[in-house]
Amino acid sequence: MRIDVLTILPNIFTGPLDEGMLRKARERGLAEFNVVDIRDFAGDKHRVTDDYVFGGGPGMVMKAEPLLAAIEHLKAGAPGRPRVVLMTPAGRVFDQALAWELAREEHLIFICGRYEGVDERVREAVVTDEISIGDYVLTGGELPALVVIDAVVRLIPGVLNQEGAAEEESFSTGLLEGPHYTRPREFRGMMVPGVLISGNHAAIARWRRKEALRRTWQRRPELLQSAVLSPGDRKLLEEIWSEEESALPSPAPGMESGGGEER
Ligand code: ADE
Repeated sequence: MRIDVLTILPNIFTGPLDEGMLRKARERGLAEFNVVDIRDFAGDKHRVTDDYVFGGGPGMVMKAEPLLAAIEHLKAGAPGRPRVVLMTPAGRVFDQALAWELAREEHLIFICGRYEGVDERVREAVVTDEISIGDYVLTGGELPALVVIDAVVRLIPGVLNQEGAAEEESFSTGLLEGPHYTRPREFRGMMVPGVLISGNHAAIARWRRKEALRRTWQRRPELLQSAVLSPGDRKLLEEIWSEEESALPSPAPGMESGGGEER
């Protein structure tokens, strides 16, 4: 996958793209990163990329010409049709489903907005996707672009070492992951659950599923509404609810078993 990033602060990307899995992805030839300074495409000698807002008001807007020149340059040098992603708090909220969708693309171009935003005509002319990483406002789209890049690149086949690691984790199964343990078996008096050292693979798989269901119900019960749950899962939830009955109020809405409506 080729990933181009348009920014006026290219140095932000130096560390993050050069460490860990993103570095490995690049070294293995699975991802190619190209960070472009938008100022290189500004037509004037002062390399201006922003200007005052038409109609008045505070702040500056990123100019259309340098951004479009940069994008046209990037498109001309690559085959296919890239997704052109504008990072903005007004975009579609990023989630794991969108990460999987983007991971199937050959070429992504990220535009990192700054100031009050980008000239609307950039959106009209070239932007295919607008993405927000959540309902809060950052100083620019650089950190959001890195969040999306990290989430997407790790899904490219061959980037994570363990096959299936990405598919099994939180959100990909629709559930949060349960607890994990490593050595030692006892740490400051706290024990690793016995089933995990029993060698009984079926019992371990059941325990893991149950603890994933428990954690999801406790922390993000709304995720249970859209997760794919088997009859076995529903039985595990019944067990969890009766175990936790004294500690927590009631099952998440819509998750009660049988019985019809109580009025
Ligand atoms: N730019 C500023 N805040 C942002 C956010 N939450 N998501 C994406 N881009 C942004």
